[in-house]
Amino acid sequence: MSPVEPFERSKPRPLDQSRTRSAYSLQWNRFRIVRPEEDRATFRNRTGLTEDDLRGATVLDAGCGMGRYLRVAAELGAEHVVGVDLSRAVEAARDLSSEFPQVQVAQADLFRTPFASGTFDQIYSLGVLDHTPDPRRAFLELARLLKPGGRIAIWVYHRERPALEKIMNLHRAVSKRLPLGVLVAMSRIMAPVGGLKRKLMASPIRPVARFGVALNVLTIGVSMHPDPEVRVCDTLDWYAPRYLSRHTFEEVADWFSEAGLIEIEDLSTKQTHFHAGQGNGINLAGRRQGSSSGAPVTSGVGDRSRQ
Ligand SMILES: C[S@@+](CC[C@H](N)C(=O)[O-])C[C@H]1O[C@@H](n2cnc3c(N)ncnc32)[C@H](O)[C@@H]1O
Repeated sequence: MSPVEPFERSKPRPLDQSRTRSAYSLQWNRFRIVRPEEDRATFRNRTGLTEDDLRGATVLDAGCGMGRYLRVAAELGAEHVVGVDLSRAVEAARDLSSEFPQVQVAQADLFRTPFASGTFDQIYSLGVLDHTPDPRRAFLELARLLKPGGRIAIWVYHRERPALEKIMNLHRAVSKRLPLGVLVAMSRIMAPVGGLKRKLMASPIRPVARFGVALNVLTIGVSMHPDPEVRVCDTLDWYAPRYLSRHTFEEVADWFSEAGLIEIEDLSTKQTHFHAGQGNGINLAGRRQGSSSGAPVTSGVGDRSRQ
């Protein structure tokens, strides 16, 4: 059976994802930030997948961006790795995974993917659902694509304390309306502030560290990643998208229950972070009941995102 067989769906609600598409088309083609060691560590932490899980598996990277984790899944022995993304990030993903024949990339919307139910052994979606207009619905769509016995792992932003949420909402109410070119320039200008915050907050001198924390609250979306180029990209990633929802553990666990998934696992508890500042997210995995038939899946991925 082809993984791209069309299927029927009932009355989809129209969703405006034009800003998502334009922001990520720009971001992932401008910043092709493959950092193999960090990507492997993040993949291991946030999916919990090992070579044993991936050997011979058909895998979906839902919202693959420029494809940094497609490469890791392929390296770890997956038989088919399919990456989908709403934006023209797929161009970067295709280029960056061209050395892996088992990787296929398609421009597609998670709300109307070109896959039949029960296609994938493993699905992961890292930092994606929270950039959609309806994360719960997007999750349920993904869960439907699991084979019996298949497993899904997701990472979404964590809801912050109310005061911080207010600051974030205020910043983003403005930033998500700004032209993307302006945001790229601002992200570049602010990148040194991210580096400064990082240094201040790590200071053993308490008032200095406190000043770092205060500066961080005021510039909350400015990334503190140790690599300056990643910092620019991550800052853009926070200010540019129209949607950036934050969630509680209970809310996300409910999505898993609603999808009928079992063996729900909190992946955030046993992670070794690649650098300080990683990991502030809700990161759960769960499995569809039943056992996988191991039926082979043929190739051929279409492009259904352009409406
Ligand atoms: C923060 S990026 C994460 C990319 C990748 N998972 C990673 O961690 O490198 C979010 C990605 O989700 C994609 N995305 C958002 N909404 C989507 C949708 N409805 N369908 C498919 N992809 C979507 C965006 O285009 C973007 O590339």
